[in-house]
Amino acid sequence: MSSYTILLTFILLGVSILTQAHLQSVFETQKPIFHHPIERVAVVGAGPAGLQAAAHLVEHNFTVRLFERAPHPGGTWFYSEETPSRESYPDDSLDYSAQIPLQLPATKYYQEGDDGLTLEERWTRHWRPRPVWSSLFTNSPKISTELPDVPYTPDTPYVLSHRTIQRHVRSYASHHCLNSNDHCPRTPSSPQVTSYSTLVAKVEKDEASHVWILTLRRLNRLPESNRIQEEWWTEAFDAVVLASGPYVSPHVPDIPGIVDWSKARINEDYCMYHSQSYRHPERYAGKTVLIVGASVSASEIARDISPFTHRLIASVRPPKDTRGSRQRSLTRFPNITEFVPEVASFQSLQTHTNGIRTGEILLVNGSVLQGIDEIILATGYRSSALYPPTSTTRRPENITWTGHYIPDPTLVYTVGRPWTIGRYQSYGFVQVWKGTADVPPPESTNDSKLKDGEDEGDGSTIPYWREMWYGEALIRRYVTWLNDASLKDGGRFVDPPPIEHLELLKYYAVVHLLNNTQQLEGIGLNLFSPFSPNQHLVTDLNPWDAFVDEDADW
Ligand SMILES: Cc1cc2nc3c(=O)[nH]c(=O)nc-3n(C[C@H](O)[C@H](O)[C@H](O)COP(=O)(O)OP(=O)(O)OC[C@H]3O[C@@H](n4cnc5c(N)ncnc54)[C@H](O)[C@@H]3O)c2cc1C
Ligand SMILES: NC(=O)c1ccc[n+]([C@@H]2O[C@H](COP(=O)([O-])OP(=O)(O)OC[C@H]3O[C@@H](n4cnc5c(N)ncnc54)[C@H](OP(=O)(O)O)[C@@H]3O)[C@@H](O)[C@H]2O)c1
Ligand SMILES: *[C@@H]1O[C@H](CO)[C@@H](O)[C@H](O)[C@H]1NC(C)=O
Ligand SMILES: *[C@@H]1O[C@H](CO)[C@@H](O)[C@H](O)[C@H]1NC(C)=O
Ligand SMILES: *[C@@H]1O[C@H](CO)[C@@H](O)[C@H](O)[C@H]1NC(C)=O
Ligand SMILES: *[C@@H]1O[C@H](CO)[C@@H](O)[C@H](O)[C@H]1NC(C)=O
Ligand SMILES: *[C@@H]1O[C@H](CO)[C@@H](O)[C@H](O)[C@H]1NC(C)=O
Ligand SMILES: *[C@@H]1O[C@H](CO)[C@@H](O)[C@H](O)[C@H]1NC(C)=O
Repeated sequence: MSSYTILLTFILLGVSILTQAHLQSVFETQKPIFHHPIERVAVVGAGPAGLQAAAHLVEHNFTVRLFERAPHPGGTWFYSEETPSRESYPDDSLDYSAQIPLQLPATKYYQEGDDGLTLEERWTRHWRPRPVWSSLFTNSPKISTELPDVPYTPDTPYVLSHRTIQRHVRSYASHHCLNSNDHCPRTPSSPQVTSYSTLVAKVEKDEASHVWILTLRRLNRLPESNRIQEEWWTEAFDAVVLASGPYVSPHVPDIPGIVDWSKARINEDYCMYHSQSYRHPERYAGKTVLIVGASVSASEIARDISPFTHRLIASVRPPKDTRGSRQRSLTRFPNITEFVPEVASFQSLQTHTNGIRTGEILLVNGSVLQGIDEIILATGYRSSALYPPTSTTRRPENITWTGHYIPDPTLVYTVGRPWTIGRYQSYGFVQVWKGTADVPPPESTNDSKLKDGEDEGDGSTIPYWREMWYGEALIRRYVTWLNDASLKDGGRFVDPPPIEHLELLKYYAVVHLLNNTQQLEGIGLNLFSPFSPNQHLVTDLNPWDAFVDEDADW
């Protein structure tokens, strides 16, 4: 035990004696009664969150299976020149279970052209290439975009290219023997931990045996015979971690006429597409491009292509969320951007084989836009949860702040930013499933109201975690809960991140958000005056919260 840990123990003991009543009210918990000991655990997704979950579970001797639809780890950060299959117009269902064969297990072989799909198309539909482009850099600084155990070298720049993060996440995977090409020694009786190229198509609970049943689909490329092998099977688990990520499927806005325009092409190329397929700027040379959306993808793609375009137009709508952190993108559009209001409708096209230049786009202010060569829909993503089956969000409402599904705490959803929260959350569910920590109680309606950041009116009752930085408050909550459990039942103590990190984050927030947001006087306020004259666009410039909003899906 290091002297630091001993010191921390004493401090915590002191704190817990002094504030026992308080601690009890926060952490008055119940040991969950599981129907049997938790031994076999499935993790869905090998991004930054799922890899940490699997590493912690393996370290604590659970029998772990990590399923990832992509051929390699990295999640969002597994870059490829391959682009995802074309999004559906309008949005389709996110349910994979319709494809499951009636008899399981099942094996099928596919040739080029079967069901009208090329082998390439079948392959990319299965693993879904990521929405990351060649020149992408993080919008979070390296100190808050780092996994444990494999620190960046000191000369790593403050803002990271996606290639640096990809290497970083893969090093973490290799360090924990979870990479796709690792052949690490295991006990012969336990199955291999990782299963790549494996889509989890369905998650269900067998109420009779109290186990989770996952329906799995793996594709194998067979280059010798130029085929793809498809395997379907099921596996049973005592507990499941859903780490399937926030940006699962592109969202296409439901604008009248969009389905008609989505069919328009020039030669083989569609003229309208979602930002998920954007990779390189060169092909925009001399074109007039309309970008729909005002968030990070919109502004960053605009910056990337602006040196090439003839004209660059952005269609943005008045923001719902006026916090400073949400306005940063507006300040990032290049200065040649022509801003126009939201699109009301796309007027029907005469033909789908001659592009969209002559097509008319009706804006909500009554004007008509024409002469566009290409439209990039930077309109965000949808996610679904795999469980419960009817869920249309990544996490249902019924979870604790630690990610446990309240009706059945053998299911966990990853919460917070994996870089900063993942290490605590993973240790937390390991402890709960070993029986050495309690599941925190459901929050009262009052707590969740505060967490959603509702305005307190006169400011007198702003909850403590909004006064500082939501992520910091969440980390403190984890540190207190985990160390409280370790004091009672034994276990490793955890430390908060070093205070310098917070200082650096604050500095970064000032440089990258606050100072930029002041420039909104130049573009932003003019831009929004048609919608909301005299209304101040940005209502919260608290730098502690403004840039790094750990509560967001970021
Ligand atoms: C364009 C873009 C830029 C971003 N930039 C930043 C940034 O600068 N800083 C930052 O902190 N964050 C950024 N993010 C957010 C990014 O998602 C997180 O950094 C991080 O990758 C989230 O980790 P995760 O493990 O939760 O999810 P992901 O990285 O999305 O990983 C989830 C994994 O689950 C797999 N999966 C999903 N469903 C299934 C299934 N049914 N079966 C099997 N496998 C499945 C996916 O294939 C994926 O590999 C960005 C996101 C995007 C889209
Ligand atoms: N590191 C990077 O540089 C980088 C780059 C890209 C993305 N990212 C991350 O990836 C995540 C996703 O970002 P994103 O920009 O793709 O998605 P997003 O943040 O969900 O933004 C979607 C945008 O589309 C707008 N929109 C939706 N329908 C519209 C319509 N009908 N008309 C006009 N606008 C419409 C939304 O406006 P409303 O707000 O009004 O709904 C919003 O501005 C974020 O976490 C982001 O940080 C990071
Ligand atoms: C896991 O099992 C190994 C071998 O039995 C043991 O040495 C180790 O202490 C166990 N780890 C934990 C965290 O219980
Ligand atoms: C616009 O940005 C470009 C490149 O950053 C710069 O060279 C130019 O001076 C800017 N123009 C105006 C009017 O600010
Ligand atoms: C609609 O908005 C555009 C872009 O801001 C502007 O040029 C046009 O004049 C506006 N039209 C009307 C009718 O106000
Ligand atoms: C939350 O769980 C409880 C108990 O299982 C259930 O009664 C309630 O309907 C659930 N609420 C939501 C929003 O799912
Ligand atoms: C919620 O807040 C209200 C008013 O602020 C208070 O009267 C009530 O007791 C609170 N409920 C709980 C469960 O804390
Ligand atoms: C932010 O901008 C102000 C005014 O331009 C400048 O004085 C200050 O140094 C900037 N802050 C940082 C941290 O760069």
